[in-house]
Amino acid sequence: MIKKGIILAGGLGTRMSPITKAVNKQLLPIYDKPLIFYPLSILMLAKIKDILIIVNKGQINQFRKILTNGKKLGINIQYKEQNAPNGLPEAFIIGEKFIGKEGVALILGDNFFYAQSLTKTLQNARKLNLGAKVFLHPVKNPKLYGIATIKNKKITYLKEKPTITKSNLAVTGLYFFDKHVVNFSKNLKPSKRKELEIIDLLNKYKKKNKLSFEFLGRGGAWLDAGSIDDYYDATSFVSAIE
Ligand code: G1P
Repeated sequence: MIKKGIILAGGLGTRMSPITKAVNKQLLPIYDKPLIFYPLSILMLAKIKDILIIVNKGQINQFRKILTNGKKLGINIQYKEQNAPNGLPEAFIIGEKFIGKEGVALILGDNFFYAQSLTKTLQNARKLNLGAKVFLHPVKNPKLYGIATIKNKKITYLKEKPTITKSNLAVTGLYFFDKHVVNFSKNLKPSKRKELEIIDLLNKYKKKNKLSFEFLGRGGAWLDAGSIDDYYDATSFVSAIE
C-alpha cells in the first residue's frame, strides 16, 4: 500500500519565460487555482496523506504560504529543495528520508489530469506492493514525452522524447514505485541532457518484469502545462468544466 507521495515542483519553466523568471510555474493560476493544487488533489484522491513537495532553491516560503503544512486539508506537507534541475529520479534521492523503507507515488507539479474513473484507478494503483506503475495516454506529439510501446498488454519499449516512434502513448507524469526506488535511482547515470531520466528508472523495473501500466481511459484528459499553449489549454478546460 502506497501512503506517501512526492510532488516535484522544481524546474526553470524555460518554455514559459519570462513569466517564470520570478514566479515558479506551479504557482501560476490554472483558471482560479494555482497549478500545483491539481497534482496535489490527485494525490489526495489516491488517499495519500503524507506529501513531500520538492521545489527550487529559495522557493520553499512561496509554496508554504499557499499550501501551509496541510493540516487544514487533513494532510501532512513537508518541503525540500532541489538545487538544480538534475532530473525527475533525483526526487527519490532528495526524498530518501521521507520515503524510508516504503513505496511512494511521484507526480509532476505541472501535470494536469482529468478522467471519469480516476478515483477508482488511483485507489487501485495505491495497492501496489512490488514494482512500478505508470499511466499512459495517447498524445499528438510523442516527441515531447517519454513514450511507451505496448504488446500483449505489456510495455515492451520505453524511450524518452523519441525522434521517430510508432507509438503515441505518453508516459504521463504520475508514477507509483515500490521501496526499491531510492536504490534504483542512486544507481542511475545522467543522460545526454545531463539529467537522471525517469525512463531509465522505469527501464530498471521493466527489465525485472515489474513494470505495469494503466490507461487514463476514454474521455480522460492529460496536460503537461509546460508550454504556454498547454498552459492555456488547461485553463480553458478547467473553466469549461467548472
Ligand atoms: C518528463 C519526463 C517524461 C514525461 C513528462 C510528463 O519530461 O521525462 O518522460 O513524459 O515529464 O510530463 P520533461 O518535463 O522533463 O520534459
